[in-house]
Order: sequence, then C-alpha cells, then structure tokens
Amino acid sequence: MGRDVIIACDFNSKEEVTGFLGKFQEEKPFVKIGMELFYAEGPEIVRTIKGMGHKIFLDLKLHDIPNTVKKAMKVLSGLDVDMCNVHAAGTRAMMQAGLEGLTRPDGTRPLLIAVTQLTSTSEEMMRRELLIDRPIDQTVMHYAKNTMEAGLDGVVCSPLEAGKVHEVCGAKFLTITPGVRFADGDVGDQKRVTTPARAKELGSDYIVVGRPITQAADPVAAYRRCMEEFAG
Ligand code: C5P
Repeated sequence: MGRDVIIACDFNSKEEVTGFLGKFQEEKPFVKIGMELFYAEGPEIVRTIKGMGHKIFLDLKLHDIPNTVKKAMKVLSGLDVDMCNVHAAGTRAMMQAGLEGLTRPDGTRPLLIAVTQLTSTSEEMMRRELLIDRPIDQTVMHYAKNTMEAGLDGVVCSPLEAGKVHEVCGAKFLTITPGVRFADGDVGDQKRVTTPARAKELGSDYIVVGRPITQAADPVAAYRRCMEEFAG
C-alpha cells in the first residue's frame, strides 16, 4: 500500500464540504470525516462524499463495551467507508469485537485503526486523573502493541512516533499521522509539527492534513504540494 495524504474535512455542513471537494476536478483525495460533520449531517454525508468518488476515513473514535462497538461497526461497514477507528483504551476485547463487527460476510472490511493516548492528554493528567504512572511514550507504544495483537491495521500517532511504532509493531502496521505543516506555513494550535517531507522520512504511512489545505488560498495546489512532498 502506498503513502497517501488524507484531507481532514473539518467542516460543519454538507454545503461547505461539497463546495470544498468540488474544487478537485482531476484528483479524488482521501478525506477524513469527523464527529462534527457526521453528527450534523448523519450517514448521508458519507454516501454523498463516496458518491463523489473519494475514499473516506470516518473518524468517530468508538469506545464502549465490546458488544456495542461490534454492532456499531457492523453499521459502519455497510456505509462502505475505507477506514475507521476506535480508542485502544477500550481494551483488546473491544478492538477485536470492533474488527468482527466491521468484517462483511464476504470477508472484506474497511481498515481499522486505533487512537492511543489523545495528544490533548498530558503525562501529568495521566498520572493524576487516570492513575497511569508510566511515561506517555511507553503508554503509547504499549497501546500500539495491544492494537496489533487485537489484529487491527494501525494507529493514529505523531509522525515523531511513527518509526518507533514500526519497530515495535512491524513495518506493515500502519501509522496515520496528523500534526503536519508546510515549512513556510502557519502552525496554528498544533504543538509538535513536521513537514510532509519529514513525515515521509520518519516512516508515516498516511498524513492527515487539515487547515494547511482547507484554509489555503488554492487548496488544490496545497494538496498537490503535500502529495509531492510526501508521496512523490
Ligand atoms: O488542521 P489540522 O491539520 O491541524 O488538522 C488535523 C486533523 O487531525 C484534525 O481533524 C484533528 O482533529 C486531527 N487530529 C490531530 N491530532 C491528533 C488526532 C487527530 O490533530 N492526535
């Protein structure tokens, strides 16, 4: 599987997202749909964007008891998305149940990846609120290992962690990495960022890029630049 750029379509209405994607005439980028858009527009938004010819990463981060996650994943597999996700904190049993629910009767399924520790959670919060005493990078690698052992395809992580995740979980285990900015671009609220070219060197399989493309004066040119640096 080749490297790819996934555009984070963090819009809150169908009009905005279809208007944005309508700018792409020659290529059909892989897009990420998050909770905001999905909850605002419902499953129909997935069908609409699929109908426009895009691959979809449905970023709903499921986390519940195994039976509920299994049944919810069964619904998502019917939506024909290409990638979806769960929280690794839900445990291996929950991840395995998700995988079962996602697998269609013919054996095909979307890619299933896991979120390790959210980047909004600090080591201090882990210690005080979650009673996890280990350093955050150890926790992230341990969650990645659990994810691999549950049979999932990969994890969301920082590009800076991608190499280590591949070391621990193997070269084929996918790393999907946000926090990407052009060298001459705005960092915004992201703290630790890397360029598309650096993410490639670090071994990311997919980069998730939002504002550097969605807020660019010329989004198609920004997407092409990203593809050239990362996948070229
Ligand atoms: O606009 P920007 O490029 O920062 O968007 C990055 C996307 O990746 C957003 O949809 C954000 O929610 C998501 N994300 C992230 N960091 C994580 C997990 C997801 O930035 N650790």
